[in-house]
Amino acid sequence: MTHAATAKIAIADTKPAAAATDALVVGLVPTRGKKVEVASPGLTAAVRSRLADAFSAVGASGKPGSVTRVPGGGGVKAPVVVGVGLGGPDRQADAESVRRAVGEAVRSLAGTRRIALALPLADDDDLLTVSIAALLAAYDHVDYRHTTRKDRKAPVSSITVLVDSAPSAEQRQAIKDIAAVAAAVNLTRDLVNTPSNALPPATLAETAREVVSGLPVDVTIWDEKGLAELQCGGILAVGQGSAHPPRLTRLSYAPEGATAHLALVGKGITFDTGGISIKPAASMDEMKSDMAGAAAVLGAVAAIAELGLPVRVTGWLPSAENMPSGRAQRPGDVIVIRGGTTVEVLNTDAEGRLILADALVLAAEEKPDLIIDVATLTGAAVVALGHRIAGVMANDDDARALVCASAEAAGEQVWPMPLPEDLRATLDSGTADIANIGDGKGGMLSAGVFLKEFIPAGQSWVHIDIAGPSFNSKAPYGYTPKGATGSAVRTFVQIAAEMAAGPA
Ligand code: BES
Ligand code: MN
Ligand code: ZN
Repeated sequence: MTHAATAKIAIADTKPAAAATDALVVGLVPTRGKKVEVASPGLTAAVRSRLADAFSAVGASGKPGSVTRVPGGGGVKAPVVVGVGLGGPDRQADAESVRRAVGEAVRSLAGTRRIALALPLADDDDLLTVSIAALLAAYDHVDYRHTTRKDRKAPVSSITVLVDSAPSAEQRQAIKDIAAVAAAVNLTRDLVNTPSNALPPATLAETAREVVSGLPVDVTIWDEKGLAELQCGGILAVGQGSAHPPRLTRLSYAPEGATAHLALVGKGITFDTGGISIKPAASMDEMKSDMAGAAAVLGAVAAIAELGLPVRVTGWLPSAENMPSGRAQRPGDVIVIRGGTTVEVLNTDAEGRLILADALVLAAEEKPDLIIDVATLTGAAVVALGHRIAGVMANDDDARALVCASAEAAGEQVWPMPLPEDLRATLDSGTADIANIGDGKGGMLSAGVFLKEFIPAGQSWVHIDIAGPSFNSKAPYGYTPKGATGSAVRTFVQIAAEMAAGPA
């Protein structure tokens, strides 16, 4: 896999006007008059007033996320000053609006090497809000263009966050930690953007091993032989049609003294053609992103281990390529999931739930405090919630609330969804314990109800369907690029931090 590096970040109490940088980013706040105000505490009143005049003259509005450039000079060392609208004056911008605004500014600066951010920071939370947004916006997907990329501007590679007074050791550490989270999100994006021919299941598994090498994480990889020994009939059935055999990867981070145990299970379909129940050709290319769940689990485990959070985390990455072939599973086949549950495969395109079933059974055997699976599971999730919101289903109200609150805190959009007991009957099969599709209505929910079948009684479990938010096929916005978004990584790190902090 080819990595796109995450930008470097530093914190400094240099005066913004004196910062040796290629572009200085300041905040703009609309006033009730025609002018905007410059919100950048380190600048003198005189410089702020001159810049406010310059921004106003070119029509800067201060509208949240709007970006305006004026030349430096006149006491400002940077050749360019970029004003980013922060909203106001009546409304205090919430953290996500600030992240998006900073993201717009940093993305607009692609082609610029070094930038300095001189933005109003009320506290250390604001410092981290600004930092993660800048790091996530300074991303560019893996690019294989050689002859046609002349127009391409490299993302910002060096970010300095300017603060009022000498940065404390705690602030430096917090910046380091947030940079590790950003690097994990960007790694997840890289994996998801990587074309499927470059990332078959065995390569995804080996990449997982490489990513956590040097971290206190144990890695176990099962190939087809190992999967047969484990009786993982779901992963094997989905993978049997491909020339690239399936894999299961287990990542174990078990720091000394950890009391809570979180299991993360991520769908790792490296390409989803639908199998014999083949998908239409339009947009099938986007199914390279059908391993976004596995990539998010890998990114999260790496970040949590890097941060040294005192919580045990086990990551499960079931992975297969869903292909039609003379060896592929057929509609009507009956397969046996680990633990013995039989499944009638009525549609080979409902494959994610088959590989997740094996992995959920394995995860539950270790009796963790909480299992969370994350998957690009259903087109129905995209119909219901669109491209920016993940659906959250659970067998435990407290666990679902923890996931939703953590997503909110991390700046990821999710929404709680039900797991109606009524839908179980739509999955009834005449020949097996359960069928892998329902009646076509409420498809996100029936996929969740199918997964629930594999969770033992008393085991707390949450399912997150990221079919919508994991891949942005439209234009970039805020700190979200086109293509893979790295969805769920920040939420998982937040959950691990909550669990490390003690019982809810
Ligand atoms: N990977 C797809 C779901 C998907 C669709 C993800 C669009 C991202 C964007 C999944 O394997 C799938 O094909 N699901 C089927 C299930 C159906 C056959 C019950 C679907 O949603 O159509
Ligand atoms: Mn499918
Ligand atoms: Zn799929």
